[in-house]
Amino acid sequence: MNALWLTHQVVARFLKRGGTCIDATAGRGYDTAFLCELAGDEGSVTAFDIQQEALDSTRQLLEERGLRARLILDSHENMAKYFESESIDVILFNLGYLPKGDHAVYTRFESTRAAIESGLGLLKRGGLMSVCIYYGGDSGYEEKEALIPYLSTLDDGQYQVLMTTFHNWKKDPPIPVFIIKQR
Ligand SMILES: C[S@@+](CC[C@H](N)C(=O)[O-])C[C@H]1O[C@@H](n2cnc3c(N)ncnc32)[C@H](O)[C@@H]1O
Repeated sequence: MNALWLTHQVVARFLKRGGTCIDATAGRGYDTAFLCELAGDEGSVTAFDIQQEALDSTRQLLEERGLRARLILDSHENMAKYFESESIDVILFNLGYLPKGDHAVYTRFESTRAAIESGLGLLKRGGLMSVCIYYGGDSGYEEKEALIPYLSTLDDGQYQVLMTTFHNWKKDPPIPVFIIKQR
């Protein structure tokens, strides 16, 4: 059991066949592929990344698995340019740097916060935003230290914010966060 497993379990509850979703951090494409499998051919998956290398990897993985998604080379903070408000079932963020990529390029609090704010406007009522906070190592602690207090400011009349902890892990456990937009 790890953060990825937990995230996928929760996402699978919210994303049904024919659903519409966004992978805000495409990386090597494993989450994008998972979303494509859940949404099926009738669904729609869009993945963002700021690195061409990430989108190339994602495209290759999708081709190998016979899956299809729209891949956009842009920062996730601009996601609202591409969608109508309240049109998305699930938005997924896996923060940090590209695995086996450039460790100097990683998600930063300011753009992540802006992306979460836009993404919440795009979510349907009853929809899910999953944000897995990875930190430590080359990406440091700044993003996590700022995100946790920020997430506690989201209006509790509109959103439920569930933060999970791997309580007995010795070092830098990832923090899967699930934000559900109230119906
Ligand atoms: C931990 S990886 C994502 C892993 C991925 N979900 C997978 O299945 O392999 C984080 C990714 O976020 C990307 N990223 C960093 N800042 C970003 C931004 N502002 N907008 C979109 N992607 C960003 C990085 O380039 C990196 O590929």
